[in-house]
Amino acid sequence: MTKKNENCVWITGASSGIGRSTAMEFARVGCKVIASSRRINGLEKLNSDLKKEKLKVEVMPCNVASSSNVVQVVKKITAANQINCLINSAGISTFKYAEDNSIQEIKDVINTNLMGSIFTIKQILPHMIKNGGGTIINVLSVVTEKLFERSSIYTASKIGLLGYTKVLREEVRKHNIRVINILPGATETPMWPAEIRNKKSDEMMQPEDLAQLLVWIYLQKRNIVPEEITLRPIQGDIDE
Ligand SMILES: NC(=O)c1ccc[n+]([C@@H]2O[C@H](COP(=O)([O-])OP(=O)(O)OC[C@H]3O[C@@H](n4cnc5c(N)ncnc54)[C@H](OP(=O)(O)O)[C@@H]3O)[C@@H](O)[C@H]2O)c1
Repeated sequence: MTKKNENCVWITGASSGIGRSTAMEFARVGCKVIASSRRINGLEKLNSDLKKEKLKVEVMPCNVASSSNVVQVVKKITAANQINCLINSAGISTFKYAEDNSIQEIKDVINTNLMGSIFTIKQILPHMIKNGGGTIINVLSVVTEKLFERSSIYTASKIGLLGYTKVLREEVRKHNIRVINILPGATETPMWPAEIRNKKSDEMMQPEDLAQLLVWIYLQKRNIVPEEITLRPIQGDIDE
């Protein structure tokens, strides 16, 4: 069991992009990191990269779109650890017009981005309440503030989660639980099609920079909650 004042962070979507960089940065500042995603090889690669720095994370495969899998995983991790922070970074996108999205794509985006984050929050809440507090950080998107074509279902998932977490934040203040939403603009990760990354990488934020900010935000444990934080590259949003 991690000790009560040890910092133990559960990160979803930790095999790639923002979640992966965030797992590395939290490990670098001495936090215990439980790293989840569907692909175990991506999580193992995270550990083989961290080995060079004599660091490691605990690998815990989890498909957040499956409520029963989330229940199982939370049972397992809370039996052995006090989770102080949950970071919901697992997410997918489609970059298609509404009429072109298949029913399966629509279900996958909603079940991962919206339902997946709600499942992890719902399962971890009783544990955090019992422990007298915690921090929940959700990686949303600038799509909650600005409209982009070919992102209707993705936008629906992120605005849905914004609504859920805004109400949640009010409900859990009394339990000393901080709910923090990060709204990033274009960040260079495998979520973007390769041709856009190749063309626009200079105009994108780097996941390592976001990760450092997330660590800093988490470690500010005084009486201050940055509720919604919008992050954009200095050049602004990307016009595809
Ligand atoms: N990149 C951007 O420009 C940008 C901007 C704003 C917000 N965001 C948000 O940032 C978050 C991270 O995205 P990213 O850019 O880092 O993309 P990414 O590199 O594609 O990473 C997405 C991560 O989510 C995991 N994932 C996908 N479906 C999952 C599921 N059902 N269960 C568990 N894990 C799942 C993936 O691992 P597996 O495939 O192994 O499961 C992967 O680790 C997402 O929520 C995204 O919406 C990204």
